[in-house]
Amino acid sequence: MSKGSFDPKLWTTRSPEETLALYTDWAKTYDADVTGAGYQTPARLAGALAGISPDKTAPILDFGCGTGLSGKALSDAGFTTIDGTDITPEMLEKAAASGLYRDLWHSAPGEAPPAGYTTIAAIGVVSLGAAPADTLHTLLGRLDPGGLLAFSYNDATLADESYMTALEATGPHATRRFEEYGPHLTGKDMGSTVYILEKT
Ligand SMILES: C[S@@+](CC[C@H](N)C(=O)[O-])C[C@H]1O[C@@H](n2cnc3c(N)ncnc32)[C@H](O)[C@@H]1O
Repeated sequence: MSKGSFDPKLWTTRSPEETLALYTDWAKTYDADVTGAGYQTPARLAGALAGISPDKTAPILDFGCGTGLSGKALSDAGFTTIDGTDITPEMLEKAAASGLYRDLWHSAPGEAPPAGYTTIAAIGVVSLGAAPADTLHTLLGRLDPGGLLAFSYNDATLADESYMTALEATGPHATRRFEEYGPHLTGKDMGSTVYILEKT
């Protein structure tokens, strides 16, 4: 396990530069670290999304795809056309090596993804210490009515006022199709809520 991987300060506010440095440093051991800690959120969210999605062959964007663990969960849940983007080139290299993605590209922090996806998944991404709370609105803004936004908030994020305020502010623009609290990192006794919003 790398030094920075489960630093107690992992789930805290940091700048985009600090976030990039953290994930650049973590890329090599990320999969072993989080899998070893019992990372459940990707499978939970992908399973919930599969139950709601009208067409699992339609392109889905794995926003903040990291090394590809979220893409693997989406693939395991039956999604067949997965694109991915991330701000950390070292994480993206691992995602590319997984062979799971149709298309992968690097994004700058705060950059909106292209419009046209019917589903965007941001698994373990919009959270304290990673992408900021207003990312929810950026992503929702790229969907057409009826489009789905699937994301997760871990315990630290659920306790943060700015992320909860951003979630509440989606109210007039989206219907909450799914919301469930459950295990996030079982080895750390951490939970997460997985959400699926439908753009109105
Ligand atoms: C905890 S990892 C989750 C990766 C993957 N989705 C998974 O479930 O394993 C968070 C990822 O979000 C990326 N990230 C952080 N801030 C971001 C931003 N503003 N936009 C897009 N990706 C971001 C990081 O580079 C990192 O790969």
